[in-house]
Amino acid sequence: MNTSDDNSRTTYTPVAKAIHAITALLVLLNIGWGLHMEHFPGYKHGQPDWNDLLFFHASIGALVFWLTVVRFVWRAKHQPPKEPAAMPAWQKVASKVVHGALYLVLLALPFSGYIHRMAGNHPVSFWGIFNWPMLIDPNEPLRLLTDKIHVALALILIALLVLHLGAVLKHTLIDRDGILKRMF
Ligand code: HEM
Ligand code: HEM
Repeated sequence: MNTSDDNSRTTYTPVAKAIHAITALLVLLNIGWGLHMEHFPGYKHGQPDWNDLLFFHASIGALVFWLTVVRFVWRAKHQPPKEPAAMPAWQKVASKVVHGALYLVLLALPFSGYIHRMAGNHPVSFWGIFNWPMLIDPNEPLRLLTDKIHVALALILIALLVLHLGAVLKHTLIDRDGILKRMF
């Protein structure tokens, strides 16, 4: 619900813009980092080198998770700008669906990685400052399942980003409705 914001605003708030930009950078970095972890020749699960890669991957992922929580709280209090008037109804619905799905995945993807590590009895560090609590006992079937879920969610995230960036490109180059200025 909009409590504190101006209904006529035409851009996102500076806080929403900053969180969007930081999240975008961290997410792109972590997709690349995750693929690097999985496919870099010579790295094997559990080896010290691989654990170092995972340390950064999991710490960046936790930042994405908590930034998304903050963003959600901020969004509840600061309504986004209204869509351009000329935008067809189906595009308004499509953008809501894709944005909603992006938010869900930004929470579920890091969380699935966290459960995967806990189920394998591995504590998860946050930049070496502290370990996140171990919420569950070791559980091999859950470890294997959350591994698959993590990879599937990463693929879904990539597909959503293709749609998201495709829509931004179309609005910027074809419709020329200044959508980028709303978020940057
Ligand atoms: C790579 C990770 C990215 C993620 C996870 C992401 C996610 C999101 C989400 C969830 C929203 C909805 C905001 C809201 O209404 O609450 C949004 C809006 C937006 N994003 Fe992204 N984004 C990413 C990258 C980018 C990039 C690289 C661009 C530009 C080239 C971009 C341009 C925009 C624009 C223009 C909007 C505002 C759309 C509107 O005005 O309704 N995003 N993004
Ligand atoms: C924005 C957050 C995250 C993104 C975008 C992301 C993305 C990815 C990607 C793309 C892969 C490679 C998948 C493959 O090709 O097989 C991967 C693997 C992995 N990620 Fe994440 N991840 C995130 C957060 C996390 C977190 C928070 C953890 C742990 C706490 C984690 C743990 C892992 C592990 C352990 C693997 C290797 C999977 C395996 O054992 O096969 N990830 N991640």
